[in-house]
Amino acid sequence: MHRLFSALQLKKLLIQKALGDSYVQAITPLQERNINLPDNLNDLKQICNSCHLCELSKSRNKVVFGKGDPKSNIVFIGEAPGATEDSLGEPFVGRAGELLTNMIERVLERPRSSVYISNIVKCRPPNNRTPTPKEALTCRPYILKELEIIQPKLIVALGATAFRYLTNDTTAISKARGHFFTYHNSKVLPTYHPSFLLRNPSAKKEAYYDMLKVKKFLERL
Ligand code: URA
Repeated sequence: MHRLFSALQLKKLLIQKALGDSYVQAITPLQERNINLPDNLNDLKQICNSCHLCELSKSRNKVVFGKGDPKSNIVFIGEAPGATEDSLGEPFVGRAGELLTNMIERVLERPRSSVYISNIVKCRPPNNRTPTPKEALTCRPYILKELEIIQPKLIVALGATAFRYLTNDTTAISKARGHFFTYHNSKVLPTYHPSFLLRNPSAKKEAYYDMLKVKKFLERL
């Protein structure tokens, strides 16, 4: 059913594109109408794997769906896959992933496999550029559905893109980080993206304090 929907939708998009419309403009209103996505992660992953709703689907090698414990009370959300993730089909498995794993295992003192990790955008933007608003908004229903299924108590938004597209809040990440926000029944704690920390090691101290807040929050549950 979903495959049929995607195929029909793709055909409609291609016709509209041939008539001069841009790809994503055509799909945005549809996404806002909240198309019926499945209520389980396996089916949702399959839909993502055959998604062609934006230009990123043309250059990706693999769709990078979320991974981890679907019963976890904490979800980490990044921006979009990089080169390593694109080739392996798993989130945060490159250098930024190594740092994220250290943050989880050394500061939170729990195995990486005990949390759930995903991204706002499921396909790699060329040259690791920031996803465009259209790409992020087109992909957003997938992460929102993942969150609806998992119902975490805490969401750690890694960087400005994750924070902005999750909460619709445009506060700079440097100001928002370390403060608790709300998304439905979950608390959201924004912090710096691990890639930013790799480029700016002096910010690691602040990210460490943010992770201590995460640890305290989880201990109180
Ligand atoms: N950066 C992200 O935002 N996500 C990944 O999966 C990897 C790097």
